[in-house]
Amino acid sequence: MNKPFSQACENNKTPILNILKNTFSKCHTVLEVGSGTGQHGVHFAKNLTDLTWQTSDLIENHQGINLWIDDEPADNLKRPLLLDFAQLWPVEIVDGIFTANTLHIVSNSLVESFFKGVGRHLENDGTLCIYGPFKYDGEFTSTSNAQFDLWLKNIEPSRGIRDIESIIALAKNEGLSLVNDFDMPANNQLLVFKRQ
Ligand SMILES: C[S@@+](CC[C@H](N)C(=O)[O-])C[C@H]1O[C@@H](n2cnc3c(N)ncnc32)[C@H](O)[C@@H]1O
Repeated sequence: MNKPFSQACENNKTPILNILKNTFSKCHTVLEVGSGTGQHGVHFAKNLTDLTWQTSDLIENHQGINLWIDDEPADNLKRPLLLDFAQLWPVEIVDGIFTANTLHIVSNSLVESFFKGVGRHLENDGTLCIYGPFKYDGEFTSTSNAQFDLWLKNIEPSRGIRDIESIIALAKNEGLSLVNDFDMPANNQLLVFKRQ
């Protein structure tokens, strides 16, 4: 079987890494939720050698993630856990959580489940990073994001690009505050929350 490949991951992995280097600099263990192809995990683990990178996803993506790890193994890169937002998460407390391009793919209730999971598993003073597109004051940041949102909703009406205000409110319920909002290439954001 060929490794799964995402061109978007190839394009965004370096800009994301440049921010994670500083943002996760004090973290020991980062849980990646929704690792997808596994490209992000292998790249970040290789370049953030002071921390352990724990991949996770639904079972259907594990084979692909494992193929990437087979080709680029690292002592600090862990094979995927079966982690579904909607279920209890099979992890202890971690000091970092990362997710990319997941919150617009799942339903609103799964977005709420995601934050409940963060609330249960992120330690005090821990850091949460969320990468993806968002709306501000109900407005898309680009025409292409508006078109993407329509495309998502055609597949499943409860999907869609989230309002940043609703994400900040869900994070606040779990004791997290937004400390940085980085503009990223291709009309994406990297949101950094701290639990304080
Ligand atoms: C668009 S992909 C993004 C993958 C990768 N993070 C990236 O940036 O390319 C969305 C990911 O969310 C995962 N996902 C969807 N529903 C999920 C759920 N209920 N619990 C955990 N992960 C889920 C998918 O399996 C997929 O890996």
